[in-house]
Amino acid sequence: MILQELSGNSHILQTAFAAAGLFALLTFISHLNHRAKIANLPSFGGGDSREKSRNAYLQSAKKLYIDGYKKFKGQVYRMMTSDDEVSIVVPPRFLPELRKLPDDILSFPKAVDKSMEVKYTKILTDEPLISHSVKADLTPALVRLNPIICQEVDEAVKEELPPCEDWTTVYIYMKLVHIVAKVSGRVFVGPELCRDQDYLDSGINYTMELIGAQQAIKLMHPWLRPFLASRLPQVKNLRRREKLAKQFLEPVVQARRNAEKDPDYEKPDDLLQWFLNRTNDYGIDSTAYIAQMQLGTIFAAIHTTTLTTTNILYTLAVKPEYIEPMRDEIRQAMADNDGIITSRALQKMEKLDSFMKETMRFYPAGFTSFNRRVMKGITLSDGTYIPAGAIIEVPSHAIYQDDENYPSADEFDGFRFSKLRKGGGATEHARNQFVTTNEQNLGFGYGRHACPGRFFAANEIKMILARLILDYDIKNPDGVTERHPNTEVGRSTAPDASKPLLFRKVQI
Ligand code: HEM
Ligand SMILES: *[C@@H]1O[C@H](CO)[C@@H](O)[C@H](O)[C@H]1NC(C)=O
Ligand SMILES: *[C@@H]1O[C@H](CO)[C@@H](O)[C@H](O)[C@H]1NC(C)=O
Repeated sequence: MILQELSGNSHILQTAFAAAGLFALLTFISHLNHRAKIANLPSFGGGDSREKSRNAYLQSAKKLYIDGYKKFKGQVYRMMTSDDEVSIVVPPRFLPELRKLPDDILSFPKAVDKSMEVKYTKILTDEPLISHSVKADLTPALVRLNPIICQEVDEAVKEELPPCEDWTTVYIYMKLVHIVAKVSGRVFVGPELCRDQDYLDSGINYTMELIGAQQAIKLMHPWLRPFLASRLPQVKNLRRREKLAKQFLEPVVQARRNAEKDPDYEKPDDLLQWFLNRTNDYGIDSTAYIAQMQLGTIFAAIHTTTLTTTNILYTLAVKPEYIEPMRDEIRQAMADNDGIITSRALQKMEKLDSFMKETMRFYPAGFTSFNRRVMKGITLSDGTYIPAGAIIEVPSHAIYQDDENYPSADEFDGFRFSKLRKGGGATEHARNQFVTTNEQNLGFGYGRHACPGRFFAANEIKMILARLILDYDIKNPDGVTERHPNTEVGRSTAPDASKPLLFRKVQI
C-alpha cells in the first residue's frame, strides 16, 4: 500500500529526489569551493598523505607548531590535524584585528564543539549565562569570599593528604581533583553540598569520564566516529554518569527554586544562586537545563584547575631551590593578615604567581589558543582570505618559546615574572601576572571569550599551593631526576596522572 502510494506520487518523488540531488550537489560544490580557497594558503604538516599527516599530528603536534612558526614567521598557513580537518594557523600579529570580530563571524562554541567532540560528549558549550555569571557575580565576589575559600582549602588539604610525618608517596593528581572539587564546590553550591559525598562523586566522576571519553574519541579515526563513537565504552560510561549526575543535581536546583518562593528566604551566596538570579533575563526556565549548566561549569573548573596545579607541583618537585623563597614570601604575606589568605595577601604572593605562570608557559593545557570556527569568510589586513567553515588557531606554545617574547625562552626561570614586576611600573605589573591575557599570554585564551574563571582559578591554585608549600617539603620519588613528562595527544597535553610525588611535613 505504501508502495502504491509512493508510485502514485512518483512525480512528486522525482521532484524531491531532484531537489535532494541538487542540494547534495550544491553542498559538494561549496565544500570543494571551501577546500579550493583553503588550498590557496601555504601548507605544512607531517606527511604526504592524509593518514600520515593525521598520525604525525597526533604524535608530535607540539613540534609541528614550533617548526611552522619558525618557517612561516608572520604568515598564515594550513595544517592537517587529527580530526581529518585542516586547521588555519594564524600568527599572533593578527590577534588585535581578530579580537574585534563578533561571534557570528568567529565562533568560540562552534570550535569547542569540535575540540570537545560535543556531538558525542554532549557537554554544554554555548550558554552565555555561565560566563556572564562567572564574570559579573563570581569574580567581584572573590574579595568577600576569599577568606571562606581559604578555610575550605585548609580543610580539604587536611582531609585529603596523609599525615606525611616522614617522606610519604602521594598520588597528587587524584588528591588535587578532590581538593579542587570541594573548594570550587564551596563557591558553586555552598558549604553543605560541597562536602556531600554524592555531589563530589557526581562532579569528579563526570569530569574524569568526560576526559576519558574525549580522549578515546580523538584516537578513533574521524571517519569511524559517526558510526562507532557513541558505542565506545568510555562514551557509554559517560552517558550513564551524566544521567546520574543530573539525577543528583536536578532536585538540588528544584529545591532552591521552591525555596525562593518564600519571601523571607535568605538566598545563598553561591554560583547556583547567581545563575538563578539571572535565568529570567536569559529566557531560561528548565530545571534540567540549569542542572546541566552547573555540570558544565564543574567540568570547566575541575579539569583545568587540577591539571594546572599538578603541572606546577611536578615542576616544583625537581626545582626544590624555589621552595624556601616562596615559603618566606607566603609567610610574610599571611603574617600581615592574621594567617588568613585575603585578596591582599594573594596580591603579595608575586613569586608564587610568577612560578605558576612560568610553569604554564612551559606546560600549558594546549599547544594552541584562540581556537575559533570561521562562520563568514574574513580577509586579514595582509589580504589573506580565510573562508567560512575553517578552524583558526594561534600557536601559543611556539609564541611562548620565542626569544623575542621571552628572553632565553628555553630556560625555566620561576621568578621571571616577579622580577619584571618588581622593577617595573603599573604596566609591568599588569602584563606579568598569572591571569594576564594578551598577544603573548594565551594560556587562558584571548579576547571576548578569554577564560572568565581565571581570577577564581588563580586564587584557588595559590591558596592550595600556599598551604602545601607552608606545610610540606616536596620532592620526586628517589632516583627520579627528570620532571614527570606530560602526555601529548595532538594539540592537547596534560600531566601524567599516574605519577607519585613524595611529601613530608615541615619539621618545626
Ligand atoms: C587554571 C585553570 C583554568 C584554565 C587554564 C582555563 C582555560 C580556559 C581557556 C583556554 C578558555 C578558552 C578561552 C578562549 O579560547 O579565548 C576558557 C574558557 C572558559 N573557562 Fe576557563 N580555565 C580555567 C579555569 C576555569 C574555572 C575555574 C572556571 C569556572 C569558574 C572556568 C570557566 C570558563 C568558562 C565558562 C569559559 C568559556 C568562556 C566563554 O564562553 O566566553 N575556567 N578557560
Ligand atoms: C566514582 O569513581 C570512583 C573511582 O573510580 C568510585 O570508587 C566511586 O564509587 C564512583 N562514584 C560513583 C557515585 O559512582
Ligand atoms: C542574587 O544573589 C545574591 C546572593 O549572592 C543575593 O544576595 C542577591 O540579592 C540576589 N539578587 C537578586 C536580584 O535576586
